[in-house]
Amino acid sequence: MPIKLFNIHSDPNLQLIDTQHREYLDLIDAFTLLPIDDIGISRILETMSFIENHAETHLQTEEGIMDLIAYPEKDYHISEHNCLRENLALIPATYYTHGKSSCLDMLKYLKKWIISHIGHTDSRLINYYLEYYKK
Ligand SMILES: [Fe+2]
Ligand SMILES: [Fe+2]
Repeated sequence: MPIKLFNIHSDPNLQLIDTQHREYLDLIDAFTLLPIDDIGISRILETMSFIENHAETHLQTEEGIMDLIAYPEKDYHISEHNCLRENLALIPATYYTHGKSSCLDMLKYLKKWIISHIGHTDSRLINYYLEYYKK
């Protein structure tokens, strides 16, 4: 069964999460489509830093929501976020040590990882949130 990434929610917190997911997946797609052989390192690093900042804003949004509802799986969920943070931070170094194509491969791998995180770990958070406010 395909993973359901986006849903229609009336709750503003869940709408924000969905919007941020779309935005950072779109940013990664836009980056991987850049004519990477023709652009300079400063543009690549600038774009990476933009993606990293956007992802960080999103991760903090979800972590704030976990606090709000005393989410029982918070520690596990944050450990996955920290894994993403560490990997995103490694991309510029990957560029310097292994070159542009490795940097792109890593980003493509992270995109798959993010999609899986959204479909599983974030989905559990959203379901818990919906149950929490139903009570
Ligand atoms: Fe997320
Ligand atoms: Fe998450």
